[in-house]
Amino acid sequence: KELLHELTGEIIRLKKERNAVILSHLYQRPEVQDIADFVGDSLGLSQQAAATDADVIVFCGVHFMAESASILSPEKIVVLPDEHAGCPMADMVDEVALARKKQEMPDAIVVCYVNTSAEVKAECDIACTSANAEKVIKSLPEDKPILFVPDKNLGSYVAAKTGREMVVWEGCCNTHDRLTADDLLAARAAHPTALILVHPECRPEVVALADVVASTTGMINFARESSAREFIVGTEMGILHPLHKHCPDKQFYLASDKLVCPNMKKTTLEKVHRALINLEPRVDVPKQIRERAVRCLDKMLAV
Ligand code: 13P
Ligand code: SF4
Repeated sequence: KELLHELTGEIIRLKKERNAVILSHLYQRPEVQDIADFVGDSLGLSQQAAATDADVIVFCGVHFMAESASILSPEKIVVLPDEHAGCPMADMVDEVALARKKQEMPDAIVVCYVNTSAEVKAECDIACTSANAEKVIKSLPEDKPILFVPDKNLGSYVAAKTGREMVVWEGCCNTHDRLTADDLLAARAAHPTALILVHPECRPEVVALADVVASTTGMINFARESSAREFIVGTEMGILHPLHKHCPDKQFYLASDKLVCPNMKKTTLEKVHRALINLEPRVDVPKQIRERAVRCLDKMLAV
């Protein structure tokens, strides 16, 4: 406990010295979330990265998030405490395969989930997150076809929500896609009065059983405002920490113990500390890619 206290103190001191801001996703380890200046979902984190006046952004999340921060704030130093913290879903589409698909659909508007590389974003028209996907799709002209990459689950969810026909890429989040309808039915049998909250990265048959489908921040806001006392949670287990923090008098049950993203767990306080000392590992997007990729993030933030 004393060591943790010491490390936390050092991180706070270095943060001031470096004029750094620490951003953390809601799936990060509890102690990492607790040291952050801002904890949020992908949309909130992009907005913070675009708005901060710090010189350094320490991004406690995965690679595409740090990359988006660098695209939105190119003059800032962006560090990712563990350079190997990637997102397997983001790796399911690359710019070469996407360019090929675009040739088959020359009129299509290409929408990318933020969970994509900068190179893929450079090939797309507009980005979205799970929090604004519906709004983004509704903002698009109705006479054009839509190609959505890379999450087939989020893609089919928004297609159903908006009634828009969309060609959807074959990617998914391994962590969320592991949750089955049987898991949810078992959780419901164990907690029959609990409301079911799930993330739209889950399979359609899982989403169909949910009372609420929302981004991570959306789930926290819902749980805070709801008069219900018990919730079954269908997203990565890191969210339990902020849920307990914001709603200490409510009960939360993880829908399955398989809901762990190993990449989100790679960031530790020790690595945050080291990142603040060394200002490494850095995430920097080459100018020619950044200039093309920034358009689709700017368009998303304007929606
Ligand atoms: P949100 O926090 O935007 O809901 O994203 C979920 C996710 O899987 C991020 O990698
Ligand atoms: Fe990627 Fe899924 Fe992990 Fe999010 S939870 S970083 S989408 S693998």
